[in-house]
Amino acid sequence: MKVPSKKTLHIGVLGAMPEEVGNLVSCLNNIEKIEHGDLKIFSGEINIDKNETHKVYLSISWSGWGKVSSARAATRLIGHKYEDLPLDLLLFTGVAGSVCEKVKQWDIVLANNLIQYDLDASPLFQRFIIPVLNKDKLTPNKYWYDWIFETIKANLNNKNLDRFKKLHSGQIGTGDKFISNKNEVLGLKKLLPKLKAVEMEGCSVAQVAQQEGVPWVILRVISDSANETAPQDFNDFLKIYNKISPLLVKIIVDNCLKSPKFIT
Ligand code: ADE
Repeated sequence: MKVPSKKTLHIGVLGAMPEEVGNLVSCLNNIEKIEHGDLKIFSGEINIDKNETHKVYLSISWSGWGKVSSARAATRLIGHKYEDLPLDLLLFTGVAGSVCEKVKQWDIVLANNLIQYDLDASPLFQRFIIPVLNKDKLTPNKYWYDWIFETIKANLNNKNLDRFKKLHSGQIGTGDKFISNKNEVLGLKKLLPKLKAVEMEGCSVAQVAQQEGVPWVILRVISDSANETAPQDFNDFLKIYNKISPLLVKIIVDNCLKSPKFIT
């Protein structure tokens, strides 16, 4: 396969479940499929530049739930085409449970920082500190984060994303647990009052990307409120979200010609 090298942007798109990535793969040209055991990576070019002076190459995968599976998939995506076309951005997209009154179902949360709320190496390290990075909160690359925030905001205003509701920026907590208990949320909020949403993969993907020196952004859509109705809300939500999820990534990708890589 010929991988274009000039003015080509390579974005890795990762979700936990196929429903979170939807049929984005069908937007690619000359699809290449690579398998590593049970992990599949689909890659190809996506047409966004009529003049074809700039090219966008996507590598898409879904990891399975949880920190281990997502860290493994992130590592594979980063390694994919590492020599010829290293990733310019690793974008993780999927659903999350809200732990904040103001953050509702169908709202979008773009993480301005993430924490692994179940990581505790105390007393050797303070609670939540990721020992290898000596940090508790991971923050995304500013340029990519700002650009994605502005892209989503503009498209919400133009009603191109009319199924989605508000856009929030804030802290997302990652842990190996599906939370469906209000008391558990209250306990977490005591420790982390700024927490807006919980999920099971974002901060592990961010950690891998950070350690590998790859810019990353974590984007979540609220499916439930991490309370007792969360399992049912989550399942009902996914049935609809499945059809809409590619739109969010497509809007980001379609705007790529204005991305930091092409502007700078
Ligand atoms: N992803 C979506 N909803 C979630 C929840 N309630 N807990 C953890 N991960 C989630």
